[in-house]
Amino acid sequence: MSSLLENKVCIITGAAQGIGHQIAKQFAADGAIVYACDRQEFTTDNERIHPVVMDITDAASVKAAFMQIFKTEGRIDCLVNNAGIVYNRKIGMILREETERMFLVNVIAVLELIQLCSRLMARNGGGNIVNIASVTAVLGSPGQVAYSATKGAIISMTKSAAKELASQGIRVNAVAPGIVKTERFKELYESDGDKIDARIGRIALGRLGTPEDIAHACAFLASDRANYISGQILGVDGCASI
Ligand SMILES: NC(=O)c1ccc[n+]([C@@H]2O[C@H](COP(=O)([O-])OP(=O)(O)OC[C@H]3O[C@@H](n4cnc5c(N)ncnc54)[C@H](O)[C@@H]3O)[C@@H](O)[C@H]2O)c1
Repeated sequence: MSSLLENKVCIITGAAQGIGHQIAKQFAADGAIVYACDRQEFTTDNERIHPVVMDITDAASVKAAFMQIFKTEGRIDCLVNNAGIVYNRKIGMILREETERMFLVNVIAVLELIQLCSRLMARNGGGNIVNIASVTAVLGSPGQVAYSATKGAIISMTKSAAKELASQGIRVNAVAPGIVKTERFKELYESDGDKIDARIGRIALGRLGTPEDIAHACAFLASDRANYISGQILGVDGCASI
């Protein structure tokens, strides 16, 4: 029996740590050839994971890296747009510079990656893209007005790109995680533990998400089992958003 992502060539951004790192490990375990991109250098002993140092806001280095992957592998089957940044600020404290940086990394760079990757995928008759949104885009979250707006943009972009790229055989979906226990969560908990405890209390399944929960959803959407699914936003949030 073949694995879920047997020999699929998959690019994952923001894969040095947190959710992206787990997505890379899960995709490799499911048989994919993984190009794990991050602006931070990192190493792995997993022979199916190829680290690529790349800042997704640097269009020239992104193009060079993607063309090299395409030349080496002859195709790109899947792109997971996971890299993202967050600045948590109450409305009165929002700084324009941070908002612009969030939109550049979380939205504009993602749009440009979709643009470049879809051209390469189309050369081989298609592929699929999984974007990482957030439950905050749907529920709202105090202190995350600007961040949640970037994730709302990801949801809109996912739906429009899915419609536009369908004729080229490219599916586009998003996973919208709830609160996930990552390095970033630990920092947030230290600064705002009471608020987080209250949010955990509203998760029907009674626990935080894990990077594994998110990675499993991404692997499914990236696989041929999801061949008739496009333009969807899959909440992976323990039933917090309905
Ligand atoms: N952790 C959560 O609770 C949670 C919840 C909802 C959505 N998300 C989303 O999931 C994704 C991953 O979150 P995480 O918690 O693992 O974050 P993280 O900060 O732990 O990891 C993000 C990774 O992206 C990389 N990165 C950031 N900017 C980059 C750039 N310009 N170019 C290349 N790499 C870059 C970082 O170096 C880092 O390795 C993000 O898009 C985030 O918004 C996270």
